[in-house]
This record gives sequence, structure tokens and C-alpha cells, in this order.
Amino acid sequence: MELVIFLMLISVTQVSSLGACPKCGSMEVPYPLSTDDRCGDPRYKVYCKNGGLEFLSAGGVYYEVLSIDSSAYKLVISPPMIQKNTCYSSDLSVGGLSLDENLPFNISTHNTVLLLNCSSDILLSPLNCSSNSFCRAYENNVVEGSTCKNTLCCHYLKDSAMTSHRIRIRVGGCTAYTSVVNIKPDDPAGSWNYGIELQWVCPS
Ligand SMILES: *[C@@H]1O[C@H](CO)[C@@H](O)[C@H](O)[C@H]1NC(C)=O
Ligand SMILES: *[C@@H]1O[C@H](CO)[C@@H](O)[C@H](O)[C@H]1NC(C)=O
Ligand SMILES: *[C@@H]1O[C@H](CO)[C@@H](O)[C@H](O)[C@H]1NC(C)=O
Repeated sequence: MELVIFLMLISVTQVSSLGACPKCGSMEVPYPLSTDDRCGDPRYKVYCKNGGLEFLSAGGVYYEVLSIDSSAYKLVISPPMIQKNTCYSSDLSVGGLSLDENLPFNISTHNTVLLLNCSSDILLSPLNCSSNSFCRAYENNVVEGSTCKNTLCCHYLKDSAMTSHRIRIRVGGCTAYTSVVNIKPDDPAGSWNYGIELQWVCPS
């Protein structure tokens, strides 16, 4: 029996040379996510700051990690705040969310992205900017989006044909965004699951 346990320990050690990281606040940090060089896999870096777990974008912005599902290789980060009295996302100055293409994370296809305060140029692209676009329900029913009311807005589903490393915003394009994971069109906008779901490739 002891030998069996010993052998199991050895095989676990070989699969992942380092173990899972300690909890960050109340959140488990499952392997391969790594808050520290001594645990997890360093390519899957996340940050434990002020008792909360954060994800760093290629643009140098930290996004709060809301949940992790390690068996599905997924985590959900918080969309950026919309700055008070404006329709500007807090990451507008770096052009929105960008993931480092050399890292094993991408934006999953379960996200419906709502683009807010867009210029009319955006109508040329394949987005849904109609009066019943999901972005209208957001602006009309969710307090944070209310400063974007009466501007042009659109939504699209992140699909595999699109870049899975960026949600782009800019002055003169769309200046704010949010995202809904697995949108339920028949539910009220206030109860949607706001977040950006990221997927990771398994360490080999
Ligand atoms: C919408 O974006 C334009 C620039 O594209 C900006 O001038 C305007 O102030 C923005 N509207 C709000 C409500 O922030
Ligand atoms: C836009 O999205 C709404 C909500 O899903 C849908 O009812 C409508 O048919 C869509 N319009 C277009 C042009 O795709
Ligand atoms: C993201 O990466 C996963 C794992 O490599 C892959 O299966 C998936 O197709 C990618 N998603 C997108 C939207 O490119």
C-alpha cells in the first residue's frame, strides 16, 4: 500500500513538476495557473493582488478573475469598468483587451461582445447594430451602461472566424464594450452573466 502511494506520488510529480498554487483570498488557483515561480506553470501567469486574482493583458491592464473552471480549461475575467459619466471603457487608452498571442490563452466562442458608442463607420462591418441588438437591452436596463444610451451600439458573437486575441475599441470607432458569457436572450439583461471567458491550451 505504501509503495502504491509512493509510486502515485512519483507519477503526479512527473506530470506536473510543480504543484498547484495556494489559494488567493478565497479563490483556488488550480494547476497550471501560476501566481508564483514556485507553483503552477509559469506560462499561465496570474496575479494575486489585494486578496483577489487578476489576469494581465498584453496591453498592461489587469482584469479581475471572476471564476475558474480548470476541468474545462476556462476562466472568466471581469469586463473593464465604464468610466463615470462617459461611455469610455477603462482600457480604451490601450485599445481594449488584447491577449499575448505567444501565451496559451484565447477568447472563447461563448462570448457575446456588446460594442458601445460606435461611429457610423462600424455599420459597414458584419455586426448587429439593429434597434433590437443585445446592446440596447444592456444600455436600457443595466446602470453601468446607461451613460452609453442613445449612441450607436452593436453586438457580435465571438466565433472561430475572428481573432480570438482581441476586443478592439478606439476613439472614432466604438469607445466602450462589455461581454456576456453564454447569453440567454430571453432573460432580462440585468441577469446576464457579464464577463469575458478565456480558454487555455493544456500544458503538454
Ligand atoms: C463617444 O465617442 C466619441 C468619440 O468617438 C466621444 O467624442 C464621445 O464623448 C463619446 N460619448 C460618450 C457618452 O462618452
Ligand atoms: C440582431 O439581434 C437581435 C437579437 O438577437 C435579433 O432579434 C435580430 O434579428 C438581429 N438582427 C440582425 C440584422 O441580425
Ligand atoms: C482557443 O484555443 C483552443 C485550444 O487550443 C482551441 O481549441 C480553440 O479553437 C481556440 N479558440 C478560438 C476562438 O480560436
